[in-house]
Amino acid sequence: MLNNYNIEFVNEVDSTNSYLKNSVQNRGVSSPYCVYAGNQTAGRGQRSHSWESQPFDNILTSFLVDDFGHLSNLPQLNNAAALAIIDTLKEFKVDNIRLKWPNDIYVSSKKIAGILIENIVSQQEVKTAVVGIGININQKQFNNFEATSVVNELGFKVSVIEFLQVLYNYFYLHITKKGLTLNESINEYLYKKGDMVTFNEDGKKQSYIVNQICLNGNLQVGAMGEKLELEHHKVKWVK
Ligand code: BTN
Repeated sequence: MLNNYNIEFVNEVDSTNSYLKNSVQNRGVSSPYCVYAGNQTAGRGQRSHSWESQPFDNILTSFLVDDFGHLSNLPQLNNAAALAIIDTLKEFKVDNIRLKWPNDIYVSSKKIAGILIENIVSQQEVKTAVVGIGININQKQFNNFEATSVVNELGFKVSVIEFLQVLYNYFYLHITKKGLTLNESINEYLYKKGDMVTFNEDGKKQSYIVNQICLNGNLQVGAMGEKLELEHHKVKWVK
């Protein structure tokens, strides 16, 4: 354990999310608790993608949250995690940070971080939430992918552990905030806000103006003077 932080370091795991879920079941760990790995052999991303990361150069971590409340609050957990990443990047002087709805953190037009939340829900209550976060820190090269990292943005390396400690503090602070506050804050960083964007909806391309993230986690967009809400599992960004 690192001093004053409930951070467990593991050299190598399949996925920090899986490891943390097992730790809850087998060792009874409780929040605040965070697992941080040097390397993942089967890191997982959104939409069944894998998450690749150069060993020991980046943040590969999962935060535990016990009893987050009703299932309908889950979008706020995503917002809290996104804001924690944004605030930490800002503290390390990275500029032009945006949240590409629903859970990708971008610097200008390149991805720097992603979030994968997995939950154990019972009777509509989120008993256990595992908030997986991957952030590119000291990796300089990315294969066939529009990605960036802290080192590429700043021009020098930073300490992964120091970065994680700042992230830890922001994360456990932000999850205590009210939904409305988190929602307002995250909308300040919304990627392509006010721009026309094309989404793939049921195999069809549709263009909308991006307005805001709603409290229920949907993206409010505009088309022909009308406002409508997109659900993240039904649409995919094209451009
Ligand atoms: C995404 O953008 O697709 C989400 C990526 C989430 C990756 C992190 S790395 C730590 C944690 N463990 C995993 O297996 N995935 C998340």
